Amino acid sequence: MAASRQPPSCHVEFGGAVAAREPPEAAPEGLEAVFPRDVGLFADAFPEETRYGFCGHVLTIAQHHGARLGVAAPVWEAALTLCKYFEKQKLNFWGKKVIELGAGTGIVGILATLLGGDVTITDLPLALEQIQENVHRNVPAEHLARARVCALSWGLDHKEFLRDYDFILGADIVYLKDTFPLLIRTLRHLCGPHSTIYLSSKMRQEHSTAVFYEALLPLHFTSELAYRDENENINIYRVTSKQNS
Ligand SMILES: C[S@@+](CC[C@H](N)C(=O)[O-])C[C@H]1O[C@@H](n2cnc3c(N)ncnc32)[C@H](O)[C@@H]1O
Repeated sequence: MAASRQPPSCHVEFGGAVAAREPPEAAPEGLEAVFPRDVGLFADAFPEETRYGFCGHVLTIAQHHGARLGVAAPVWEAALTLCKYFEKQKLNFWGKKVIELGAGTGIVGILATLLGGDVTITDLPLALEQIQENVHRNVPAEHLARARVCALSWGLDHKEFLRDYDFILGADIVYLKDTFPLLIRTLRHLCGPHSTIYLSSKMRQEHSTAVFYEALLPLHFTSELAYRDENENINIYRVTSKQNS
């Protein structure tokens, strides 16, 4: 890692072992018995491969659907909306330090890498192998050093990461009310005075997504609606530290 400590749980090897730390939503023991670890993470998954085009790059994204990966398996519409937003805004990340939270397939972080960023792509340990696979499919070998895949469970190991990111990205990560305080804690730790956070969210009433953006986030950050896709009911928020307002 260029200017920061390497979190101990970072995965840098393609197809490497699943991280030692168990995720909060790890598979139950029964499932573990049916799909023992040595059979591999994707033993219960049926893969699908989809191509997307953004900012002049074609991305081939594998999605391993199955009991283990759950919501981390597919590319969610909010991720595609965020990629389209980068394209519309002609954003590039050259020379910028970027971290993505709850990356799932890694599509957003991979695009940020192709747009020049020095990117740390994070999720719960169970999703890392899928992300790593997608990184290797899409990031040319000479740029792989700019795409690190690491475990980051919100509110648990965020302090392993430094507070020096220029951009913090998240797509469809505001959907579990119980995790809202953990996510806020993580964002507060990662977001320095010069960081910009982009959060793209499907505004699901049943998941209290608006409560997060309208009641919780403004307690700690300055937040503005940067873009809304009315048809998809997806909002993108640009969020900064209150220290720089
Ligand atoms: C709805 S999916 C979105 C995936 C991806 N960002 C996308 O939009 O395609 C939510 C993601 O958040 C991750 N996640 C959920 N709880 C988490 C936690 N406590 N810490 C870290 N990641 C978490 C899940 O593993 C999953 O990848």
